Amino acid sequence: MKRKHNLVLVPLLGAAMALTACGSDDGDTGSDAGDSGSGDAAGKIGVILPDTESSVRWESADRPALEAAFEEAGVDYEIQNAEGDAEKMTTIADSMIGSGVTVLAIVNLDSESGAAIQEKAASQGVATIDYDRLTLGGTAEYYVSFDNTVVGELQGQGLADCLGDEDANIVYLNGSPTDNNATLFAEGAHSVLDEMSNYTVVGEQAVPDWDNEQAATIFQQLYTAADGDVDGVLAANDGLGGAAISILEGAGQDGEVPVTGQDATVEGLQNVLAGTQCMTVYKSATQEAQALADVAIALANGEEAEVTGTTVDSSDNSEVDSILLEPQAITKDNVGDVIEDGGQKAEDVCVGEFADLCAEAGIS
Ligand code: BGC
Repeated sequence: MKRKHNLVLVPLLGAAMALTACGSDDGDTGSDAGDSGSGDAAGKIGVILPDTESSVRWESADRPALEAAFEEAGVDYEIQNAEGDAEKMTTIADSMIGSGVTVLAIVNLDSESGAAIQEKAASQGVATIDYDRLTLGGTAEYYVSFDNTVVGELQGQGLADCLGDEDANIVYLNGSPTDNNATLFAEGAHSVLDEMSNYTVVGEQAVPDWDNEQAATIFQQLYTAADGDVDGVLAANDGLGGAAISILEGAGQDGEVPVTGQDATVEGLQNVLAGTQCMTVYKSATQEAQALADVAIALANGEEAEVTGTTVDSSDNSEVDSILLEPQAITKDNVGDVIEDGGQKAEDVCVGEFADLCAEAGIS
């Protein structure tokens, strides 16, 4: 069953804008309906990012990409970060709703708190969007993300390409159990690697909140339990991959055991260039932010957004209108693609010991 779109925004908009105008001393931030540029778009868009630690992407890639997309569209917006605290996300959501946002996009920290935020927003006539992570049991009108099963498949195939045909023992370091994406990444990776009979899973664990420090401890335990007989690591993102690499380094095995990742972070790309990481997955923040801005603006204007399809919420089988973008596998051979696409800057990646490796890879 398809979730219904909440299109009760327009009548509330005038009231919300009036509130903003009389209640604040910065009344000229974008609520000036008469201005050209912001005149087309209705109301204000709120975005709540999840944290600063599970991946550097949220502050270093998503925030600037979202700012650029909203500025370009000439809409009023507010972006905040919940710092890994679901209660804080709820408080931020309340204050954004109170300040008159008409569309609220969240990257949930867990489905339960995300769904509660969305329900409250809906009761106030505020439309919601799931950005990057689907809120299971939620009521978001739209879901904007990458095809996360494909992300996992790319990781599985990337690891297989690095390991080759020999028999190999694999450890999985999965993302947070509260993140629906982490489930999809693991499913995608398993769908590829489980088909290959030369590989044996010798350890698999989810990392709470994608916490990189816990990831190192967990990987150390899995590595010890496997008597150090680990040939490949399916790590769900660059942060978890980096944690595994640090343990492998301690054991004198860095560069010998292929490790996967995701996000094409500066550190991830440097590890790929150095050969300590076998691959990462690039998901253009510019594309994802643009898709979010397009959907948010359509919602704010009471219009339907263009979608690529629907996503099934596994908790209740409801279908959510979605824009799912295409992720790209990155190995040593195509690190330059990320830089050419503006996903990272050569001056950030090619520092110190990485300058020569960049030159070898033709990156300048
Ligand atoms: C995102 C990844 C990110 C991870 C940790 C996932 O939901 O899709 O890009 O690395 O969360 O923040």
